Amino acid sequence: MNKLDFIYKRKSIRKFKDQEVPKEDIMKMLDAAIHAPSAHHCQNWYFVVVQDKNIINEIVSVVKTSHEKIAEMAKNEKDKEHFLKLMRYYLNFKDASTTVIVYGGPYKTIEEKILRENNVDEEIITELNDSMPGIQSIGAAVENFLLAASALGYGTCYMTGPNHAKKEIEKIINLDKDGYSLLAMIALGVPEDNTPAQPPRKSLDDVVTFI
Ligand SMILES: Cc1cc2nc3c(=O)[nH]c(=O)nc-3n(C[C@H](O)[C@H](O)[C@H](O)COP(=O)(O)O)c2cc1C
Repeated sequence: MNKLDFIYKRKSIRKFKDQEVPKEDIMKMLDAAIHAPSAHHCQNWYFVVVQDKNIINEIVSVVKTSHEKIAEMAKNEKDKEHFLKLMRYYLNFKDASTTVIVYGGPYKTIEEKILRENNVDEEIITELNDSMPGIQSIGAAVENFLLAASALGYGTCYMTGPNHAKKEIEKIINLDKDGYSLLAMIALGVPEDNTPAQPPRKSLDDVVTFI
């Protein structure tokens, strides 16, 4: 077995068996997630594990409503049809036994404080924060979660599609953590047999330069 097989084994899973994921395994995935690197070791993540079918159905319902509302705003039929066709990809968690709602907390650097105290242009602050270290930290944690899940034999899909209903989902979850907001969701479950292969990648030549 190749040492990096655990990387190549992961792929997005969008169809799940009607089978629970034991809490002890979910705890292992969460523990892998919190061992991710984070900017200034801020650990600005919080995870809500949803297994209650009624809550999942409520989330499905608000995402569908928001999706249809946005589709109605499209300026032409082509965009409307396109967006409506995407809806199933925004609802992958619908039949997963578990949905993990991933929150991110505030992240501010000392350099931002110093620059603000010197009344620099907002443009400079925007440029400073362009790389969104707080958000990148959440991405690192989610990837660790996905890799742990696939190493344990489970299927996942990293999702930000449903975020257009972020406010409504946050209202359902009602997390009491100041400054934290929903950034992503993870559909988690036992993968259906014969799920589609990972889509092909750009070649390394296209995305790498050695200097
Ligand atoms: C930030 C992020 C958001 C994503 N959101 C969704 C989503 O809402 N729905 C979905 O079906 N897939 C989503 N994906 C999964 C990607 O479509 C998938 O990773 C990509 O097609 C490559 O396939 P693979 O994960 O099987 O390698 C998301 C992935 C990332 C990293």
